[in-house]
Formats: sequence, C-alpha cells, structure tokens
Amino acid sequence: MKLQYQLNAAFTALLLIIMAVTGYVVYSLILNLLIQDEQRQLEQQGEILVSVLDEAFISRENLMSFNEFLREQELQLVLYDREQNTVHFSTLPTPVVTGLFMNNDFNNQNQELWAFGNEKYVTSRILIVPQSLGLELILLTPLQDLQIVQQDFIVRMLIVFLIGALVAIGLSYFLTRKLVTPLTSLKFQLKKIENRNFDEIQPIKASGEVKEVAQSVYEMANELQRYISTQRTFFQNASHELKTPLMTIQGYAEGIKEKVFSEQEEEKGLEVIVSEVNRLKKIINEMILLAKLESEEVSYHNDKIAVKDLINKVMERALPIATEKELELQQQIKGDLYLHGDEERILRALLNLTFNGIRHGHRMLSITADKQNEQIQITIEDDGEGISEELMPHIFHRFVKGKNGETGLGLAIARAIIEQSNGKIEVGKSKLGGAKFTLNFPT
Ligand SMILES: Nc1ncnc2c1ncn2[C@@H]1O[C@H](COP(=O)(O)OP(=O)(O)O)[C@@H](O)[C@H]1O
Ligand SMILES: [Mg+2]
Repeated sequence: MKLQYQLNAAFTALLLIIMAVTGYVVYSLILNLLIQDEQRQLEQQGEILVSVLDEAFISRENLMSFNEFLREQELQLVLYDREQNTVHFSTLPTPVVTGLFMNNDFNNQNQELWAFGNEKYVTSRILIVPQSLGLELILLTPLQDLQIVQQDFIVRMLIVFLIGALVAIGLSYFLTRKLVTPLTSLKFQLKKIENRNFDEIQPIKASGEVKEVAQSVYEMANELQRYISTQRTFFQNASHELKTPLMTIQGYAEGIKEKVFSEQEEEKGLEVIVSEVNRLKKIINEMILLAKLESEEVSYHNDKIAVKDLINKVMERALPIATEKELELQQQIKGDLYLHGDEERILRALLNLTFNGIRHGHRMLSITADKQNEQIQITIEDDGEGISEELMPHIFHRFVKGKNGETGLGLAIARAIIEQSNGKIEVGKSKLGGAKFTLNFPT
C-alpha cells in the first residue's frame, strides 16, 4: 500500500477511535447530568410551590382546598402523606399513580428514580412546613423526556463529529501529500541512480529530514559516479598498458618464428622480448600490490619505526643506481624521530619516490626528516626538470606517467601506503629545481 494511504488510514483509524471513546463517555455521562439538572429544576419549582403552601397555613383539615391550586400548576406532582403512607393528591393519571405506588417505596428518600412499566420518573421531594404535618410534595419528570433531550444531543454531537472528521481527514490528506510527494520524486531519482543515469538526476523540492536524505542521496550518487568512472579509466589504462608490450612481444616472436629477421635483428628481438616480459611482470606485480593495498583484508603491521634507520635503508638501496648515474645523495635528519606503520611498506613507498627522483634528477637527490607541527615530515626532492603543471593534479592516479615514465603505478602505490599509515603525501616544486614530495605522518 502506498505510504500516503497508510498514513491516512492510520490517522483516520486514530480519529475514529478517539471519537468513539469520546462519544461513549459523553453518551454515558449526559443522562446523569440531565437527571441532576432536572432534579435541580424540579427542586426550584417545588420550593416555590411549597413556600406558597406554607404561607397558606396548610393543615390536614383544609388540605382539599389546595388540590385545586396544585392542579392549576401544570406540573406532574404527587402530594404524599408520610405519616399514613398514602397519596393525597396527584396531577398524574390515577393508574400511573397507583402503578408507581405499588412498584416503588415512596417512603424511601434515597430512591431518586421511580419505575412503572417501561417508564421511569425522575423525582424531587420537598417537605411541607410545618414538618409535623408529615406532608411531602413530590415533583416528577418522565425519564423519557430527558432521553429525548439526550438523543437530540447525541445527534448534534454526531453531526459535529462527522464534519470535524471530514475536515480532519481532508487536512490529513493534504499534509501527507505534502510529505509524501518529495519522497515519491526522490524514489524516481533513486531509480535513475540505479540505472546509472547520473546526468538525468534532478534536485527535488523538499524540507527537513527529507531534504537531508535527498542531499545524502546526491552525494552518494556523485561518489558512485566518480567511483565508476575511475574504475572504467583504470580498466582502460590497464588493458592499454598490458596490450602494448604484448603486441611488441607478439610481433618479434612471430617474426622470429617465420624467420623474417636477420641474425642481428633476431638477437635484438629477443632482447626486446625479455625486457618487455620484465616490464609486463613489473606492471602486473604493481597492479596486484595496489589491489592488495586497496582491499582492507590485507594484513598490516604496526611497527614503531626509527626514521633514521628507515632513511639509511633507502640510501643503501639507492646508492648503486645513484653512483652509476653519478648523482649525489644527501640526507638530513633532525633529532630522534619515530613513526608508526608497516615498515616494509613505508620503505617501499620511500623507494618508489627515491628511484623516481634518481631517474629524473640531474646531479642530486636530497632526503630530509624533521618534526613539524607535531608531525613527522619527510621530504624527497631532486634537481631535475620537475613535474609539469598539467600533470601535477593527476600525478598520484594510476597509470599517469610523464615522458620517461615506466608503469605509472609507483606514485599511486606510494600514496596508498602512506594514507594507510594515516599519513599524507603532497607534490610540489623543489628549490633544487625538480620535484619535491612531502610526506607527513602523525607522531
Ligand atoms: N622526481 C620526479 N621528477 C619528475 N617527474 C616525476 C618525478 N617523479 C615522478 N614523476 C613523473 O610522474 C610519473 C608517474 O610516476 P610513477 O607513478 O612513479 O610512475 P613511473 O615511475 O612508473 O613512470 C612519472 O612517469 C614521471 O613523469
Ligand atoms: Mg616510478
């Protein structure tokens, strides 16, 4: 069932329950109230009558002369003699009085309702002064009269309830529609996300929580779109990177098989095949490492690493290549610095940056370590040509490489490792002239 109908149904049910309970309570109370009110009125009328009778010096002897006076009052009354337990006079029809007298104890002062046949009477009784007379004036109203008033009241109440309910349900329909409409349009937007039609997503009109949900949905859609597009570029780049060496290998291998090359060319072909196979192996190994780094399941050591030892290890491994290229390695470490992370991996990240620096630098590569703003800062810079402006923003992306690039995965791997150690990596220009990579780790 649609949300709007559900809300309306729930509201209507609640309304009906409240009305039924209120109706029942009012219905059961109203008759008692009417009876009390009627008794009060009877009492007032009775008191007026009795005061008239009192002033007229009523006595048992002249009782009859007052009957005429009472008859003129157009009231339903009984003049009851307590002493002798008899009815002296009544304006009610004789069978009714007799019936009432037979069925009810007139002497019982507490009995406020008298019954006779199907009819009941509300009573109000007043003693006539002097009390020694033992005469009592009893005024009566048939309960039926009050029930007619009660019925009339209930009918009015029902009409009011009905109008109220119609207005309330109309209002509820209007309000729920206002609430549900943004949800419905949000549902449409979600369908578009599901079908990956990101460009067709439109903002919806909403307020409050629905607006917040919509905002989250848009952010999620953006994130998903970004993710999908990076995945797509990754696969395109990866297949391109793998395809190029494979085609070279295929070309030479087929040439050699069909013996179209001279001996010299064949020799060169085999060399190219071996180097391309090595390159492929490197790309694949780096892709596997990158995938491992990005999947959470990979186990991660949390070692306490002495920065000095770490940089020494980097220097040891870089020295042979640097010497070969006649490039000077410099290092400057200030103080006893420690950082936390997976030593093997962080070493790998630093090596990637260092080897890049050696490859692109002319004469010198410098590594520094220092404590800056409660963070361990390591910089690696060289005096090469640096990274071009247009490449700079994308340099850490996978398969992004410049002129003398190899796999284009080294920096992506370095960044993944450093971020996994809660560190940050940034690229900029070095005072030496080349590229400068700055790494920050929490202490
Ligand atoms: N120190 C550097 N100086 C100049 N360019 C660099 C330097 N380090 C990296 N780059 C550029 O960034 C690209 C990506 O580097 P990297 O991810 O390590 O891939 P690869 O080294 O396999 O090409 C390189 O191809 C190169 O163009
Ligand atoms: Mg590299």
